[in-house]
Amino acid sequence: MPNGQRVVLRHYPHGAMQPSDFGIEELSLPDIGAGEFLVRALYVSVDPMLRLFIDPAPLGGKMPPMPLGTTIPGPAVGKVIESNHPDFAVGTIVEGRFGWQHFAVSNGTGVQRVSSKLGSPENALSIGGLPGFTAYVGLEVAGGVKSGQTFLVSGAAGAVGSAAGALIHARGGRAVGIAGGADKCRYLVEEIGYDAAIDRLAPDFLAQLATALPSGADVYFDNVGGAMLASIVPMMARGGLVLICGLMAQYQGEAATSVDHLPDVLRAVMFNSLRIQGFTQVGQDALRPAFEAELVDLVASNRMKVAMHIEDGIERLPQAMAGLFDNSVTGKVVVRVGEI
Ligand SMILES: NC(=O)c1ccc[n+]([C@@H]2O[C@H](COP(=O)([O-])OP(=O)(O)OC[C@H]3O[C@@H](n4cnc5c(N)ncnc54)[C@H](OP(=O)(O)O)[C@@H]3O)[C@@H](O)[C@H]2O)c1
Repeated sequence: MPNGQRVVLRHYPHGAMQPSDFGIEELSLPDIGAGEFLVRALYVSVDPMLRLFIDPAPLGGKMPPMPLGTTIPGPAVGKVIESNHPDFAVGTIVEGRFGWQHFAVSNGTGVQRVSSKLGSPENALSIGGLPGFTAYVGLEVAGGVKSGQTFLVSGAAGAVGSAAGALIHARGGRAVGIAGGADKCRYLVEEIGYDAAIDRLAPDFLAQLATALPSGADVYFDNVGGAMLASIVPMMARGGLVLICGLMAQYQGEAATSVDHLPDVLRAVMFNSLRIQGFTQVGQDALRPAFEAELVDLVASNRMKVAMHIEDGIERLPQAMAGLFDNSVTGKVVVRVGEI
């Protein structure tokens, strides 16, 4: 008997993703074995990097394509509703890679209990989860937030960019954000604590950015890559760090049609003695206790409030995923698929 639904990969996207690249199938309530527990999903995370893994040639062909019909993987928050596991009692709220489905069986690997100190359980997919931790790790890789430094953050109104701005602000740094549209820029300054926010869609975007960076940017926390990187690198302060967190502008293949900006980037790197460094939050679990301690304090004192964009119903997941790339949403995107 089907008891729920799951979202599967129906077609490999070519260029911009379409909701029709995904399909919805019925899902029967799975049985659990010894040492396992059953999770009913509450909130499913929508993450841009998924686009890389559903490509027909993931990571430029370095990985085999995901088989069509696979349940879309990804983080979710859910409630344990049946358990044969000593550490996960029925009723526990947990976060793990449960995928885009109503129910998942787990043996506990990679699963975290969601702390009630986070306020709402969906925060475990935002500031208290992967995006918040990514922002934290990025700032650690940058050597922390030093007095007098200016951080420039692209994709600033997204999940990672919002968390990065809130952390920089809380630590006393100066943060300048880049976002698409006046409303998002207002959100960055009024709700997150960015010192300035520049609209990347404004005709005089680069002139506004130059005004907001009178001494250049010491750290560029880049979530976007693409052509914008080449325009921004010449605005870095001498000895600055270009920190590559993500490449939103390249995930759907835009880079293949753009002009070659590499000579401009290298010129700026050479003449301004810049460093370019990528990083990933994967494998950085040793930083988790310090992250959680700082975060709990910020959330409890209401100094970290990242916007959540919540859609309702599992069938909204494909559209929500496509929406990450069309400038339509602010903050962390999740889909509510069940009630506590
Ligand atoms: N390094 C790691 O370990 C790690 C971990 C998690 C995520 N990431 C990466 O971090 C980045 C941000 O993730 P997220 O979860 O914050 O994503 P998100 O919530 O979807 O936010 C991304 C932001 O990028 C902007 N954007 C989208 N397409 C763009 C384009 N073509 N040009 C310029 N801006 C564009 C959008 O804002 P506007 O339209 O308002 O500008 C959006 O708010 C992604 O690249 C993701 O893959 C890295």
